[in-house]
Amino acid sequence: MTVSNPPGIGEAMEKGPQGPDSAAKVWPEIWCSPTKVPLAIVAAIAENGVIGDGRGLPWNLPSDLKHFRRITMGKPLLMGRKTFESIGRILPGRETIVVTRDRAFDASRGGGQTNCIHVAYELEAALALAQARAQAMGAGEIILAGGGNLYESLIGHAERMHLTFVDVAPRGAVSFPEIDWSNWLEVSRVRPRPSAKDEATFAFVDFDRRHCLSL
Ligand SMILES: NC(=O)c1ccc[n+]([C@@H]2O[C@H](COP(=O)([O-])OP(=O)(O)OC[C@H]3O[C@@H](n4cnc5c(N)ncnc54)[C@H](OP(=O)(O)O)[C@@H]3O)[C@@H](O)[C@H]2O)c1
Repeated sequence: MTVSNPPGIGEAMEKGPQGPDSAAKVWPEIWCSPTKVPLAIVAAIAENGVIGDGRGLPWNLPSDLKHFRRITMGKPLLMGRKTFESIGRILPGRETIVVTRDRAFDASRGGGQTNCIHVAYELEAALALAQARAQAMGAGEIILAGGGNLYESLIGHAERMHLTFVDVAPRGAVSFPEIDWSNWLEVSRVRPRPSAKDEATFAFVDFDRRHCLSL
């Protein structure tokens, strides 16, 4: 698993701003397609690449949940059915597009505002719907929120990644897919001080897809 040693942490890749105070973004002004809202992966990844145990997250990191909320607010979230069920509720202030092959899937069974949930039965339809919803919402990104299955299928479409590198190596059945780091430029790295309730230390690291930068 290559996630555990991204070149942004090691050596092979050009580095962006680093250090505890480097919160400043250096987003490029030109994107792959000026008319499309970019797809951005948001994921928390352990040193061994694990992201989940199949039922939920293998750690308790309230600071990362706040970070997730901050990044995703006002945006459409694309997620697999298993991730949707592991969250177990509708996330306020966002629209969720659940991907499933189950035509009988009832996204409203968790309760909440059903107009904030959409269901798509294939990936292309999910991406098209997310694009339409992002434009309607005035969102600057579509968030790919997991899980492992969806990351694996759609990482090739992603233009940004907002990753949390968690300094633990838990057991878990679900991992982040292999990343070809030569495609990605680290643009921001922050290592916040964990809160008392955080079970581990972690770093928030953002990447842009390199080919987007060369247009
Ligand atoms: N650490 C993190 O940042 C993070 C983020 C998100 C999730 N997670 C964790 O990841 C785990 C869940 O990930 P996962 O890989 O098991 O499942 P997942 O990606 O959340 O969902 C997989 C499901 O999505 C649907 N799906 C996938 N490809 C599809 C396609 N081409 N067309 C239609 N439907 C499709 C299928 O649903 P049906 O079976 O209904 O057809 C499939 O079973 C949990 O442990 C969760 O906590 C971690």
